[in-house]
Amino acid sequence: MVIKKVGVLGCGLMGSGIAQVSAGAGYSTVVKEIADDFLKKGLSSIEKSLGKFVEKGTITRDQRAETLGRLKGTTKFEDLGDCDIVIEAITENLQLKRETYATIDKIVKPPAIFASNTSSLVVTEMMTATKRVDRFIGMHFFNPVPLMKLVEVVGTITTSKEILDEAMKFAASLGKVPIRTSDRSGFVVNRLLVPYLLDAIRALEEGVGSVEDIDNGMRLGCGYPMGPFTLLDFVGLETTYYIANIMFEEFREKRFAPPPLLKRLVLAGHHGKKTGRGFYDYSDPANPKPLY
Ligand code: 3HC
Repeated sequence: MVIKKVGVLGCGLMGSGIAQVSAGAGYSTVVKEIADDFLKKGLSSIEKSLGKFVEKGTITRDQRAETLGRLKGTTKFEDLGDCDIVIEAITENLQLKRETYATIDKIVKPPAIFASNTSSLVVTEMMTATKRVDRFIGMHFFNPVPLMKLVEVVGTITTSKEILDEAMKFAASLGKVPIRTSDRSGFVVNRLLVPYLLDAIRALEEGVGSVEDIDNGMRLGCGYPMGPFTLLDFVGLETTYYIANIMFEEFREKRFAPPPLLKRLVLAGHHGKKTGRGFYDYSDPANPKPLY
């Protein structure tokens, strides 16, 4: 099968990025949101991101216009009907995802591939809501999608080899570097990244160092582009808390257990950059102030 038309479910942070790279790579792309205001917000973030690339000279004004021309926003599932692959990036809620997959399984043409951008849910559990057990995969992108080169391509025990090969080729055609991984919560990256982030919080709780010192330690000592607390605030504390809980549930290992401070920050609504406060205070976004 040849992938020509791409459907993206969800136009939030991840979905908008995926739709952008898909249209940018030359695919006719339909992105579906649940309501017009969410769609408008997502499409405007794509325009902003493309604008940054034009400013930097990474793409031309014409390429920006062509990319936007290949992109169609919708609120109707029916518009995904003739897509060759549908990449789902909706809220990380298993029940909601299963219901959505059951709906689109009846609408999208049978040969199409379904790919979930889930970061930690069990792909097999979503796959069982559909009849396309051989053509259901995970395709996990990284934030910010237009800049991060990696895509984890996740096969379940029923995914066919042809479909996995096709997905690897497709991910490469988006300008990404795909890696293959199996359907274990967290795949490769979050399996290693989440315990590291949680351990940084434990180190803070134990008084090993301050937020600023631990961030500087990993940034300057190991060459990481962001220290763990900057990255936690960037990813969203509620997202990390959610992923950690799912991974703890799957493996029952302490390294995945969310530390008490993370839980309390999430309960207090301090979710990081998006709420203006997490491990840093973002009142002055150009100069985040460490809080702990
Ligand atoms: N579109 C276009 N351009 C963008 C952009 C976007 N979405 N986001 C940022 N940029 C631009 C910035 O405007 C900036 O442009 P400039 O050089 O003209 O000022 C440029 O990219 C570089 O950004 P910054 O100056 O803000 O800073 P950095 O040099 O630190 O680069 C970064 C930003 C690429 C995000 C880098 O900090 C990085 O690699 N951080 C780590 C990110 C990471 O680890 N992501 C994975 C998170 S885990 C995940 O997603 C998995 C999930 O399951 C949780």
